Amino acid sequence: VEYTPEELRKRKQGKGVWRLPPDYDGHARSPVPRFTTLTESQLKELAAYFKSWGEALIRVLVPGAHVFVASNPLVSFMVSDSLNAAGFQRRGEVIRLVRTMRGGDRPKGAHNNFPETSVIPRSLFEPWLLFRKPFEGRIQDCLYEWGTGALRRPSEGGPFPDVFASGVTPIAERNVGKHPTIKPQRFLRQIVRAVLPLGTGVVLDPFAGSGSTLAAANAVGYRSIGIEIVGEYCLIAKRAVPKLAALTFEDE
Ligand SMILES: C[S@@+](CC[C@H](N)C(=O)[O-])C[C@H]1O[C@@H](n2cnc3c(N)ncnc32)[C@H](O)[C@@H]1O
Repeated sequence: VEYTPEELRKRKQGKGVWRLPPDYDGHARSPVPRFTTLTESQLKELAAYFKSWGEALIRVLVPGAHVFVASNPLVSFMVSDSLNAAGFQRRGEVIRLVRTMRGGDRPKGAHNNFPETSVIPRSLFEPWLLFRKPFEGRIQDCLYEWGTGALRRPSEGGPFPDVFASGVTPIAERNVGKHPTIKPQRFLRQIVRAVLPLGTGVVLDPFAGSGSTLAAANAVGYRSIGIEIVGEYCLIAKRAVPKLAALTFEDE
């Protein structure tokens, strides 16, 4: 919804799904999508969209392939149901701990009258839903035949966890990949690396935006394919991918 031409037009005025967070410290904020604005019929469309997307996706994945879907606490259950209906197995979810600048937890127009109330929890995480395409036989057969079925461990000593302290995308990355919802490299590299358990195969990002997932794939030495519907974002990604991929972090 938030990337339709109409909503992208409204975004320029901080209207529609894109709302300006409160300006509490004097800094101008960029609009962020607020999914509480979705109508009943948009929610139905969302469920139908992810079912048909899931059906299209499952056809191009190898058996045992893993799928991460960045979501949000309000609609993640619908996305999950739709992907389940499309034939995927749910394999849990990864929590990206991130303090976003979303406002709107106070009663609109009456917050002075009800100073001690929060209408909705102040979200401090982003759920990344995890699914797997079903396969025949044992995990080891799938690993031998397709190189999938499992996740890659961060190191031999530790399993892949489901909570990551992430934080917001650093300004240096946002300046390179000028996209409204660019995800941070440090977090993405850990997710992308995990998706190919033996390090072989191709990573697909069908909603590539700034190309941050493709950059993360390059950084960890994987091949990748990105698809993006907005031409302007494709051009941004073309320039951003090598720059984002070249970033290094002390703890990597
Ligand atoms: C949430 S953003 C992805 C941001 C990206 N992960 C990043 O870090 O820059 C979703 C992207 O999907 C694109 N998109 C939406 N519908 C699409 C479609 N049907 N096909 C391809 N891209 C689409 C949007 O234009 C938007 O750039």
